[in-house]
Amino acid sequence: MDLSVPDAALKVFDFTQDHDLKIDVLINNAGFGDSGAFAQSDWKKQYEMVQVNITALMQLTHCFLPGMIERKNGKILNLSSVAAFCAGPGMSIYYASKAFVRSFSEAVAEEVKGTGVTVTALCPGPTATGFEAAAAMGNDSRMFKKAAKAEDVAKAGLRAMRKKKVLCYQGGFTKLMSFLCRLAPRSVTRKYAKKTNEA
Ligand SMILES: NC(=O)c1ccc[n+]([C@@H]2O[C@H](COP(=O)([O-])OP(=O)(O)OC[C@H]3O[C@@H](n4cnc5c(N)ncnc54)[C@H](OP(=O)(O)O)[C@@H]3O)[C@@H](O)[C@H]2O)c1
Repeated sequence: MDLSVPDAALKVFDFTQDHDLKIDVLINNAGFGDSGAFAQSDWKKQYEMVQVNITALMQLTHCFLPGMIERKNGKILNLSSVAAFCAGPGMSIYYASKAFVRSFSEAVAEEVKGTGVTVTALCPGPTATGFEAAAAMGNDSRMFKKAAKAEDVAKAGLRAMRKKKVLCYQGGFTKLMSFLCRLAPRSVTRKYAKKTNEA
């Protein structure tokens, strides 16, 4: 399904209902970014980013969660990012969308505690995938010079989901960033993010 289309997530859910499929694991992985200043950005791409990164993730969770709770069995893994830690000048909507995913996942994880259902937010750092190209970042952005392997990130996410962790900061860089972003004022972290996104 093209999840940028409104209510696409609902169609995915309807398909599983029509085929009597019980979904016990939901991995909200689909997502993309865009680089450049918001004022000059392509509106359609920003709109679709919100649809895919936020609305579809939220709607899929809303559709599948009640059944999981009823069956007292379910795991949801949502793809957030190191971008969730601060504001991201030069990739403003992407950073904001990943902050939404982290906050939303944490909140629902707490709400469903004790029901047999868990929610995990995976926050990877730069990872070698098609992301750079999809976000129009070019092929030589400094951020991706030491990108993690997609396989390692996926394994860490699945491990965290199985261990029922609420947050998973994958890799040394992400762990360091999560620590530093908690200590540093937001006026500093957004300037750092701006420099990083420009490099
Ligand atoms: N790579 C990184 O550095 C990094 C870091 C932190 C978090 N993340 C997050 O990790 C997740 C996976 O991204 P990736 O790094 O693997 O990038 P990717 O190689 O570009 O893959 C993006 C994935 O999202 C799907 N997708 C994009 N637009 C869609 C749409 N309109 N409808 C349905 N599916 C759509 C793609 O499906 P198709 O293949 O069918 O197009 C693909 O499976 C994303 O949520 C991203 O934000 C990535």
